[in-house]
Amino acid sequence: MAEGLKVKIAPSILAADFGKLGFEAKRAEDAGADLLHVDVMDGHFVPNLTIGPDVVRAIRKWTSLSLNVHLMIENPERFFRSFSEAGADSVVFHVEAAEDVSRAIKALRRLGMGCGLSLNPETPVEAVLDYLEDIDLLLVMTVHPGFGGQEFIPESLGRIKRAREEARARNPSLDIEVDGGINRETARMVVAAGANVLVAGTALFRSENMAEAIGILRG
Ligand code: DX5
Ligand code: ZN
Repeated sequence: MAEGLKVKIAPSILAADFGKLGFEAKRAEDAGADLLHVDVMDGHFVPNLTIGPDVVRAIRKWTSLSLNVHLMIENPERFFRSFSEAGADSVVFHVEAAEDVSRAIKALRRLGMGCGLSLNPETPVEAVLDYLEDIDLLLVMTVHPGFGGQEFIPESLGRIKRAREEARARNPSLDIEVDGGINRETARMVVAAGANVLVAGTALFRSENMAEAIGILRG
């Protein structure tokens, strides 16, 4: 468990109706979401394409929720300023994709943004240990990034536990976020392992009653 850290629910708009994203963002806010997760893909780092800063700017007008942009792109630093100007509150970039992780963290700080670092399922937790003190959030991917609706990878639980243990020593208020295959069963497991920010696309946007689905994930 993440002692003292509140569980936060972050609907992923990847599973929303892209024909009415503003409305979908508002729907998530009205349902009691804590923040909104926005998946940005470039067709290189992951084999899929999604959206860019102009779409974030459009969503920004519809919700006061904190916008958490998950950059699944090569050389993420190139786009920090554009997302900041578009109204994003925090950016999560992949440790595998950045040329210079420390420089990228500093660049986000200079822009006054929340800073998160993400790990693909095959990347050892050791790859981020040196940065834990300098970031607000660590995203432990629980599927291979690129697509919604995939199955949770069970080996993620050990990785989340390990990350939480390291965070206890290095940055006790670190948010540990999980993303991919989060539903009512896996939510309980990841929270028990030490995660406190749960991203969910399918389980929330495709549910009949999002407020109720958020309550279930919150536990
Ligand atoms: C996957 C994205 C996720 C995705 C999760 O690469 O990073 O945010 O939307 O979708 P679900 O919750 O459907 O697994
Ligand atoms: Zn994501």
